[in-house]
Amino acid sequence: IRQLVKQRRPRGFPPGPTPLPMIGNILSLWINEYCHFIIQIFSLDLGGISTVILNGYDAIKECLYHQSEVFADRPSLPLFQKMTKMGGKCWGNSWIEHHKLAVNCFRFFGSGQRMFGRISEECLFFLHAIDQHQGKPFNPKHLVTNAVSNITNLIIFGQRFTYDDSDFQHMIEIFSENVELAASGWAFLYNAFPWMEYVPFGKHQKLFRNANKVYDFLLQIIKRFSQDRVPQSPQHYIDAYLDEMEQSATDKATSFSQDNLIFSVGELIIAGTETTTNCLRWAMLYMALYPRIQEKVQMEIDCILNGRPPALEDKQRMPYVEAVLHEVLRFCNVVPLGIFRATSQDAVVRGYTIPRGTMVITNLYSVHFDEKYWSDPSIFCPERFLDCNGKFVRHEAFLPFSIGKRHCLGEQLARLEMFLFFTTLLQRFHLQFPEGFIPSLSPKLGMTLQPRPYSICAIRRQQ
Ligand code: HEM
Repeated sequence: IRQLVKQRRPRGFPPGPTPLPMIGNILSLWINEYCHFIIQIFSLDLGGISTVILNGYDAIKECLYHQSEVFADRPSLPLFQKMTKMGGKCWGNSWIEHHKLAVNCFRFFGSGQRMFGRISEECLFFLHAIDQHQGKPFNPKHLVTNAVSNITNLIIFGQRFTYDDSDFQHMIEIFSENVELAASGWAFLYNAFPWMEYVPFGKHQKLFRNANKVYDFLLQIIKRFSQDRVPQSPQHYIDAYLDEMEQSATDKATSFSQDNLIFSVGELIIAGTETTTNCLRWAMLYMALYPRIQEKVQMEIDCILNGRPPALEDKQRMPYVEAVLHEVLRFCNVVPLGIFRATSQDAVVRGYTIPRGTMVITNLYSVHFDEKYWSDPSIFCPERFLDCNGKFVRHEAFLPFSIGKRHCLGEQLARLEMFLFFTTLLQRFHLQFPEGFIPSLSPKLGMTLQPRPYSICAIRRQQ
């Protein structure tokens, strides 16, 4: 009965389809995938959790940008509460101090010439590992994941992990499996009926097992990397976090704690790895699929770099590369529904009332296929980011990193990583599919969209 009562929409709430008893509209999230484009604001009942869905650029901008403060919270879902033992920086009020620390660390350890140099070094390891395949088909997933996660590792631990570190690889693998499972029907059912904890089968149990293993692994490596720490002289995120913890030790309201250190490290690793890795994997796939686009990219690389490694200034001098990477971000929608938000106070949008604490899903996918802003959005066309003189042009309705107070804090780093990995890869190799292989373009669904596993040949180019 409690579930049935919970399903009633609050007064003045945006309209939505009639919910089924108990499970509400959970199924309609999957049946219609991300295609609820027509209505800009509507509601779904996700098993008793009243949720507002925002579609298209106008509605998302109106809420996330013009009412930035109001839409800046994250929902406190039972699944995340369980996995973070009620902690975790994304949830509750603790996000502000954690966000500030992470932003400062990313600025200090993860930007500018120094970071550029460190990503360039990782690119050499990456190219060398690809070379080992000698042009034969291989699945690039693990290599790209290892290379990309090492950039975040440098900021968090001050160190990279070798590509044969099986413990680290296993942790990333099960963590990334959880990103997929977190969007499964089981996860939504658990959020609706937390007593399912006691149901011994189902994907939610796998989620919990994985989360425990990741927690234990992170606890161990955090201990290892904080052994030689010199207080107030931080070399990486963990040092900086421990400094904050010590400074606020007597403050009862602080959210800096050993547990939240582990959760925030996990969150940074997965947020930085899963997204950028998937983007690069899509980029490689589309280059092999469209050899003429790949050729144009390589012509620009050869013309601007003339065989030398890319420098920071080259990014602006390579509009076609920029256009291709932007089109990959638009077309492939690696974070299709953003990360779920919640209202921090009662809100009014277009005459509808959205009470405080309501879960809000921002359909970023719909922004990138919004016909008001994009012509032929379902065609992969990097040229849409170029003007008639071949200069790069920005588009307003381009939000792969979302907008507003909670937008992606790794955006600058991600853009730098994508530019360097992509440019150095195509400078050295020509990408093609093994003969007779036709890749699937339909993504694997999860909190992120990733390509289905594919094999590719990286043939050394003659320059
Ligand atoms: C949040 C996209 C790379 C760290 C987000 C959000 C999106 C996003 C859509 C949700 C923001 C919102 O709620 O409005 C992407 C994409 C990436 C990328 C497309 C790569 C192509 C990175 C990297 C890092 C990172 C490299 C850092 C290592 C984060 C964090 C959050 C976040 C920590 C949560 C911020 C918060 O809760 O305040 N990202 N991201 N992301 N991203 Fe990224």
